[in-house]
Amino acid sequence: MRPIIAPSILSANFAYLAKDLEMINQSEADWMHLDIMDGVFVPNISFGFPVLKYVAELSKKPLDVHLMIVNPEKFIPEVKALGAKVMNVHFEACPHLHRVVQQIREAGMLPAVTINPATPVSLLKDIINDVYMVLVMSVNPGFGGQKFIEHSVEKVRELRLLIEETGSEALIEVDGGVNKETGARLVEAGANVLVAGNAIFSAENPTLMIHELKGL
Ligand code: DX5
Ligand code: ZN
Repeated sequence: MRPIIAPSILSANFAYLAKDLEMINQSEADWMHLDIMDGVFVPNISFGFPVLKYVAELSKKPLDVHLMIVNPEKFIPEVKALGAKVMNVHFEACPHLHRVVQQIREAGMLPAVTINPATPVSLLKDIINDVYMVLVMSVNPGFGGQKFIEHSVEKVRELRLLIEETGSEALIEVDGGVNKETGARLVEAGANVLVAGNAIFSAENPTLMIHELKGL
């Protein structure tokens, strides 16, 4: 199965955002990945709903919204208003994760849970049958263009095993330092969805890079 490709617009040129969005629209990308940061859960701030409103209007691809914020459940209505397909919340930001997952479903979106590099896959055992997708962070969240953490490949293998053992249908998404080389190994280990920012937007030909990632 060819991977689902979700370009992260965090690495786009925000002065010419419409141009980059159009590139994604015309490409073989499957989803558009939107990173929301609050400067509290992660040491950076990206963009918020006033900006994303216009991104959502221009995007022809389903939206995969990754919230790197505390209390993400507070923003379920705002994410829903964007027309998002997937709402990703961090395991580490949700003491009542089961409730949040149900709330996302009730709002008519697909719930995904994200784990940071230091969070073990085994902690997902009691939520794996309730989520549409697990996002394995392969860098510490907060910035684009970081170096891929090698251990993430093992985590994807372990997660694939957990999904098989539990009969879950969850997809596995990976985010951070994904390029053709790391992407190929992640797909081999069982990843279904590849997020890529820097690899796409710093490529000489971003459309071709999306095509090549899609071919992994
Ligand atoms: C990082 C974000 C990522 C980021 C990935 O915190 O969640 O989506 O844009 O960027 P690259 O692919 O450049 O590592
Ligand atoms: Zn992300």
